[in-house]
Amino acid sequence: MRKPRTLFRLLTVISVLFIVYALVKNYMIDPGAAGFLSRKTGLRRELNLPVWLNAMYVHVAFACIAMASGLLNFSNRIFEKSRRFHRSNGYVYIVSVLVVVLTSGYMAPYATGGRISSIGFNLINMIWPFITVMALVQIKKKRMIRHRNWMIRSYAFCFTNMFIHLITTLFHQGFGLVYATSYTIGVYGSIVLLLVIPEIVIRTIGQSGEKIA
Ligand code: HEM
Repeated sequence: MRKPRTLFRLLTVISVLFIVYALVKNYMIDPGAAGFLSRKTGLRRELNLPVWLNAMYVHVAFACIAMASGLLNFSNRIFEKSRRFHRSNGYVYIVSVLVVVLTSGYMAPYATGGRISSIGFNLINMIWPFITVMALVQIKKKRMIRHRNWMIRSYAFCFTNMFIHLITTLFHQGFGLVYATSYTIGVYGSIVLLLVIPEIVIRTIGQSGEKIA
C-alpha cells in the first residue's frame, strides 16, 4: 500500500524538477543550444541550424507535455475523480510521444557521436511508440494491470534525455572519456536502464489492482 505512494511522490519530484530544468535550460539559458552543438564534430551531413533548433524546441515542449501528462495519469486521486480526464489526458500523452519521436527522427542523423548514436536513437524511436501502443491496446481489452505495466514501461522513456546526460557526464567528467564517445555510451546505457528500471518497479508494486498513488 505504501510502496506505490512513495514511488509516485519520488516520481513527481524528479519529473517536476526535470521539466523545470529542461524548460529553463533550453528556452532561457541556452536557446541556441550553443553548448550542446559545440560538441558535434565530423558531422556527415550539414546541419541546418534554424530547422534543427525549431525541431529541438518542439521536441522539448512535447517531451515536457508527455512527462507531465504521463505523471498525472499515474495519480489514483485524479483517476477516481474523473475517468474522462484520465482518458483524454492519455491521448495527449500518446500524441506527445509521437511528436517527440517524429522530431527525434529529424535530429537523429545529426546525433552527437555519429552513426552509432543515430542507430541508438532510431531504436528508441521504434521501441517507445511500440510500448505506448501496447499500453493502449491493453486498456482497449480492459486489462487494467497490463495497461498500467505497459504505461510504466512507456513513461520510463520520458527520462531518456536525463539518463543520457547523467551517463555522459559520468563517463566524460568522471572517467575522462571523449565527450562524443561518452554520449554514445549514454544513448545505449540509457536504453538498457529504461528497459530494466520499469521491470523492477513493476515487480516492486506487484500485480495487485491498486494504482500507483
Ligand atoms: C521525454 C524527455 C526528453 C527530453 C526532455 C528531451 C530533450 C532533448 C534536448 C534538450 C535535446 C537537445 C540536446 C540536449 O541537450 O540533449 C534533445 C536532443 C535529442 N533527443 Fe531528446 N528529449 C527527450 C526524449 C527523447 C526521446 C525519447 C528520444 C528518442 C525517441 C529523443 C531523441 C533525441 C535526439 C535524436 C536528439 C538529438 C541528439 C543529438 O543531436 O545528439 N529524445 N532532446
